[in-house]
Amino acid sequence: MFSRSLYSLFAAALLSVEVAAHTVITYPGWRGDNLVTNDTFPYGMQWMYPCGGMPTTTNRTLWPVTGGAIALQPGWFQGHATAFFYMNMGYGTDGPGGGPPNMSFPMVPVFQIVGPSKNPYPGTFCLPQVPLPANSSVKIGDNATIQVVETAVHGASLFSCVDITFADPKDVPEVNDTNCFNSTDIAFNNVYSIALDAPLPLPLPSPRLSHHCI
Ligand SMILES: *[C@@H]1O[C@H](CO)[C@@H](O)[C@H](O)[C@H]1NC(C)=O
Ligand SMILES: *[C@@H]1O[C@H](CO)[C@@H](O)[C@H](O)[C@H]1NC(C)=O
Ligand SMILES: *[C@@H]1O[C@H](CO)[C@@H](O)[C@H](O)[C@H]1NC(C)=O
Ligand SMILES: *[C@@H]1O[C@H](CO)[C@@H](O)[C@H](O)[C@H]1NC(C)=O
Ligand SMILES: *[C@@H]1O[C@H](CO)[C@@H](O)[C@H](O)[C@H]1NC(C)=O
Ligand SMILES: *[C@@H]1O[C@H](CO)[C@@H](O)[C@H](O)[C@H]1NC(C)=O
Ligand SMILES: *[C@@H]1O[C@H](CO)[C@@H](O)[C@H](O)[C@H]1NC(C)=O
Repeated sequence: MFSRSLYSLFAAALLSVEVAAHTVITYPGWRGDNLVTNDTFPYGMQWMYPCGGMPTTTNRTLWPVTGGAIALQPGWFQGHATAFFYMNMGYGTDGPGGGPPNMSFPMVPVFQIVGPSKNPYPGTFCLPQVPLPANSSVKIGDNATIQVVETAVHGASLFSCVDITFADPKDVPEVNDTNCFNSTDIAFNNVYSIALDAPLPLPLPSPRLSHHCI
């Protein structure tokens, strides 16, 4: 018994370390634990498009047909204190594996979060009213999938999804301070498109390279 509780302590510690380095959709939930790295997913499951290696699920969460909350633990990679976030919707179940045909419907413009430090950090943020994608025409009872993409500083992306069924807002418990909050030390930036008025800041050719040219 003692060793069993020691084991759970260890497992909990391990999970919190894992969580600190990946995307976990804390509300409205996720397809399942895809925080593993093993022989099937040698780089880690969450890097797999479109849903971090997780197949479509049937334990769908009810989500308001008028849009609703999405809460995340963004996690941190060592040395990467910022990340870009995308939140997309895929409609229906006519695609691969009984999921949506694609995840091509953005719900919010891309935004950036800024963490407190370069170290892994288990903070949470929540957008209480994420709208449906532009021109969406869903009705109560329709199925869809919400995909969250976190782009690391080096450009690679982590994927996590949750399968939902649209519901009348009165049938979905409202979020509150327990399941929808912002950790104080995560900041947000808009991402603007700015035309370059100068060449990209590429490094000058190194002396060794020019030596080769001679
Ligand atoms: C669905 O079930 C899986 C497997 O039990 C679980 O890990 C996951 O959290 C569930 N998702 C939701 C949204 O309840
Ligand atoms: C790796 O983990 C995934 C998810 O749990 C599982 O489906 C897969 O079978 C595992 N691969 C190996 C080789 O254990
Ligand atoms: C939505 O998904 C659930 C669970 O997978 C399924 O039972 C139901 O038939 C689906 N509804 C529609 C309209 O496809
Ligand atoms: C994406 O899926 C939608 C259905 O949800 C479909 O109407 C649309 O044609 C698909 N887009 C592409 C590029 O396949
Ligand atoms: C939404 O529909 C309007 C009118 O048809 C169209 O002009 C607009 O481009 C659509 N927006 C998106 C994101 O598809
Ligand atoms: C917040 O909402 C959850 C889910 O509906 C509920 O279980 C919890 O009791 C609520 N917490 C508070 C403080 O109201
Ligand atoms: C968290 O911060 C974002 C960005 O400022 C904001 O849109 C959102 O409403 C905040 N969430 C809560 C629960 O206050």
